Order: sequence, then C-alpha cells, then structure tokens
Amino acid sequence: MAPDAVVFLISQPYLQGKRFKALQASLTRACPIPCAIVRMEGREAGPMSALDTLVGEGARNILVQPVGIPFSDSLLAWLPGALAHWRRQRGFDGGLALASDQSGDEAVLAAIARSSLDNAAEAAPIESDHGSLGGAGWDEVPAHRHHLLVCTGPRCNFREAGPLRAVLAEELTRQGVARDCLVATTGCLFPCNNGPVVAHYPAGRWYRLADADDVARFVSTVIKNGETLPQLIIHEVSQ
Ligand code: FES
Repeated sequence: MAPDAVVFLISQPYLQGKRFKALQASLTRACPIPCAIVRMEGREAGPMSALDTLVGEGARNILVQPVGIPFSDSLLAWLPGALAHWRRQRGFDGGLALASDQSGDEAVLAAIARSSLDNAAEAAPIESDHGSLGGAGWDEVPAHRHHLLVCTGPRCNFREAGPLRAVLAEELTRQGVARDCLVATTGCLFPCNNGPVVAHYPAGRWYRLADADDVARFVSTVIKNGETLPQLIIHEVSQ
C-alpha cells in the first residue's frame, strides 16, 4: 500500500502540551504527505478523530505508525482490533495499515546513537548540589470532598477521553464545584471496554461517561446534588 496520509501515534503519558505541540510541528514539517500526530494518552483528541479528519480531507490509504522505541507491546497487540473497529464503524473502504514500531530499524537506531554523541556538548550537567528531591507544596494532602480519577489511558482515549477530561473541568467550574474536587488523570484502570471511565471517591462508584451530556449530568447529579446515576455506573466498590 502506498500511503497518501500517515497517523503517527505517540504513547507518552507525561508529555507536556507544549512539547507535544513542538513534536507535532516538527513531524508535520518532516512528513512529505498529509499527517496527524496523536497521543494514545492525554487530553487531546484521539486516533479516531485523526482518522476521521484525514478521511474528510480525502485520504484513501492511511498508514498508522507507532512512534517510540520501543512502543508498548500491549498497545501494539490491541491496535489492530481498535483500528478495525474504527473501520467498521465508519464504513471506510480505503487502505489502512499498521506499521511496526522502529525498535528493529537499524538506521533509526544508528541515527539516535549518532545524534546522542553529536549533541553531548549541549547536555545539562548534573552536580550533587542540583536542587532536591522534595519540592515546595508537596507536603500537604489537599482537602477536597470528591476525588475523581479520570482514565486517559490509551483505550479510553481512543473513545475521546482526552477531550472529555477538558469538558469535565469546564462543567465543574461552570457549576461552581471545581474547588470541591480533586481531579486526577490516570493510566488504564482496566475496564477499558466500558470507557471512558471515571472513578468517584469516597463514594466508590465508577462511571462510564461517554459524551459531554453524560459529563454535565454527572456533575449536576452526582457532584452537586449528592445523588447517583445508576444507568452510568459500571462498578461499585463494596464498603
Ligand atoms: S484505558 Fe481506561 S480503563 Fe483501560
């Protein structure tokens, strides 16, 4: 298959938005055909949106390229089924192929080794008096009434958990309860097929929040009014 578009997949939970944007810009400049650079985890739109956009722009033969040495084995095993799901759901009849990661590509590995040595003079020296392990503000446990664990792991993110995390933050603020909630994004919480998953403590109830309407109802009913939404609960921790 000669691709006419590429989706580069980045799996890196702790990548800052600014660095990700810089990486997007560099890869886009370097790629001679239309491309999208998406994260498997995080707050940005996921792979399905990227595929939709490229198809909307006319792509007919899409190569999906995992970026990272090595890329996660479990994601590589899961991606064919997830991409087939997108293909079935959208009725896409063009070409779609998943490349292997580049951990076996001798030319890429040689380029990394060469570049490391070429840039050694710019490496930041670390002396023994360089800062400390404990930073200011990391001693106190915050006094929030609600803890929300929002899964932005790869399989929830495939279902657009990243943008929903932003919607959740907006709803909490709009409904005046943001200060009551500690919202933490997490990696995979395991019931991926029920994603996007949000675990609410201390109530011990796990919810599937599939879209912005679910998020708005969750905030008004569960967080603000202290009730539950049985139809969205996927798990209850026995107390
Ligand atoms: S990726 Fe969210 S539960 Fe697995």
